[in-house]
Amino acid sequence: MKIAILPGDGIGPEVTRQAVKVLRAVASRFGLALELSEALIGGCAYEAHGHPLPPGTLALAREANAILFGAEGGFQYETLPRGLRPGDALLTLRRELDLFANFRPIVAWPELADASTLKPEVIEGVDLTILRELTSDLYFGEPRGIETLRDGSRRGINTMSYTEAEIRRIAHAGFRAARSRRGKLCSVDKANVLETMELWREVVTEVGTEYPDVKLSHLYIDAAAMALVRTPKAFDVIVTANLFGDILSDEASMLVGSIGMLPSASLNADSKGLFEPVHGCAPDIAGRDIANPLAAILSVAMMLRLSFGREDAASAVEAAVRKILAEGHRTQDIAASDEVVIGTEEMGDRVTRALA
Ligand code: IPM
Ligand code: MG
Repeated sequence: MKIAILPGDGIGPEVTRQAVKVLRAVASRFGLALELSEALIGGCAYEAHGHPLPPGTLALAREANAILFGAEGGFQYETLPRGLRPGDALLTLRRELDLFANFRPIVAWPELADASTLKPEVIEGVDLTILRELTSDLYFGEPRGIETLRDGSRRGINTMSYTEAEIRRIAHAGFRAARSRRGKLCSVDKANVLETMELWREVVTEVGTEYPDVKLSHLYIDAAAMALVRTPKAFDVIVTANLFGDILSDEASMLVGSIGMLPSASLNADSKGLFEPVHGCAPDIAGRDIANPLAAILSVAMMLRLSFGREDAASAVEAAVRKILAEGHRTQDIAASDEVVIGTEEMGDRVTRALA
């Protein structure tokens, strides 16, 4: 298992360290041969090499069978020119490796019911997956930019764009995911207003005829945003466009209680993947040993399952997390006011020990 480790910035390195610890433990328990190599990405790469995605990092990511990514960004980089900002490295990686299928599972852990701002009866039993298209849409559409008009005022432009082929492949991924779960796929668009999304709905519906066993429904993004907090248990798999998926997945994190619990997988057509916690770099809490490493650890489980087909090892990691949560161990983001809080490192150590 050739894995590129890209810890990045902010809390990325500290949560990735815990995830690697868990990865080594699960590898030794299941006899898996690991070949890990680490490289800089994001702000730290910019500081060291003048670019957030140095050629060596991109080459390493290309050669690996899977990538474990931490986070990137930081306040100090936000005014850099576009192309040199840390976030651009991640976007380039997604695009270059054609990681179009981004799975963000949303599972309400009964142990964490108190951590959510929503009523327990609303979130109890929530188990859904957001499948976000990751390599097209407004994120990459041309033309884009900020132009100066004749009167000297400025205009910003981005382009929402999807080709039929791009919609078709993410739709197939959605139907296959639904088939392996509870057989329900909800496609989220804005077909009532946007032509791009009209095409989206048409193509998803057409692909759906190949999956008669999957129950397909459609929602507009505004209605979906409401339904997600009103009746989240009604969802199984949600397939949606890049920008809508970005927004819905942050909203959905509140069903779980903390974005610090959400892993993700971004796969290409050969199931090569980049695995990352959804939470981002969180510079305000970086380096203080308080970040929750469970999203990164659960990303390792997704890697074992989706890129390496090791359901046994993946389940073992998830079971270890469940055991630690059931025993009452909490980082600050998931702790109730009367619970004892442990740090990033200790959480990682406990999951590692539970695996052995
Ligand atoms: C995400 C993030 C990224 C995105 C940023 C960091 C570019 O918000 O993965 O959800 O917008 O895709
Ligand atoms: Mg986001």
